[in-house]
Amino acid sequence: MPTDVTPGFVSNPRLDRGLAYGGDLRAILSLERAEEARAAVTGWEGYAPTPLRDLPAIAETLGIAQVLYKDEGKRFGLKSFKALGGAYAVDRLVAQTGKAGLTVACATDGNHGRSVAWGAQRAGIEAVIYVHETVSAGRAEAIRGFGATVVREGRTYDDSVRACTEAAAANGWQIVSDTSWPGYEDVPKDVMQGYALLAMEAEEQGARPSHVFVQGGVGGLAAGVLSHAWEKHGAERPILVVVEPENAACLLASARAGILTAVGGDLDTIMAGLACGEPSILAWRLLEQGADAFMTIADTAAGDAMRLLATRGVVGGESGVAGLAGLIKAARDPALRAALGLGSSSRVLCYGTEGATDPDVYRSIVGRSAEEVEP
Ligand SMILES: Cc1ncc(COP(=O)(O)O)c(C=O)c1O
Repeated sequence: MPTDVTPGFVSNPRLDRGLAYGGDLRAILSLERAEEARAAVTGWEGYAPTPLRDLPAIAETLGIAQVLYKDEGKRFGLKSFKALGGAYAVDRLVAQTGKAGLTVACATDGNHGRSVAWGAQRAGIEAVIYVHETVSAGRAEAIRGFGATVVREGRTYDDSVRACTEAAAANGWQIVSDTSWPGYEDVPKDVMQGYALLAMEAEEQGARPSHVFVQGGVGGLAAGVLSHAWEKHGAERPILVVVEPENAACLLASARAGILTAVGGDLDTIMAGLACGEPSILAWRLLEQGADAFMTIADTAAGDAMRLLATRGVVGGESGVAGLAGLIKAARDPALRAALGLGSSSRVLCYGTEGATDPDVYRSIVGRSAEEVEP
């Protein structure tokens, strides 16, 4: 039952909750390889599970039982969940090919590149990171801080993915991308597999959500958390809602069209990490069958959610709060509440995927610095 309940919301017409998590999907992401990723990542120096924050006052205002916020703001000092993906894929690549002559490269809107650069620095290899025109100077500088060469090329994230692919072919670099395309699937599987750790940690910290709101860029994170819930809990898994910026909603467009679909335009949004116009083909294979719904939020909703969290002493970055902003929008809209079955007994888990990854941008939106909000 395809339903466009309101603009910017699509119930997944291809969802089949009874469908078992089969071998074709396990070949992309599996609990078995999630355990391998966990064994590797928990062995890294400085590993600690990120906090799972309970936000009862927000739950009460929204008329639901619980809001949990998995706060990735301090993940390995990189300030985002992406630390789990790119760096893990670099580790795997080094283990498979050895270090000699290995240079890794990727395109990024900030966080993935930081993770790849960090992984390369730890492994003692070179990294070349492509950023597009609108990636902030602060984010580019943070990547340089991990010893990587930063190249600015392309108008959008998708343009810089292409520029990086061409340069990598010409120079013999290994691409460590968080998105996948026909013929390029192995490394992005490792990246997404690392993300499943978020869901594993949350469950061990006691999260038993009825609903999960997770933000989508190319869809890798959403696929990572979905794979864990689907393989482990089957039809009993929580309702999964994918949240995207209005101007970069390629997953929602794909759900609506029934086929992987790119969106054009300048993808302009303050949610820099979600400014992607083309879904990852691997992520889409999972989401098209297993996500319950797709929705969009305005930039103003992300800003409002950042300021609301700040009043609770929690720092959430522009892309980091998108899931929470989606929940707030859905919970306040009677049609969306009904479509998603949100009610007084709902327990919602949001993935707070980044902290103040650009401190200047954070301060300009919230009016206080990250240190003032969370001393
Ligand atoms: C903070 C943050 N949240 C969420 C995402 C979305 O992840 P994905 O592109 O795998 O959908 C990103 C991607 O860069 C991000 O930086």
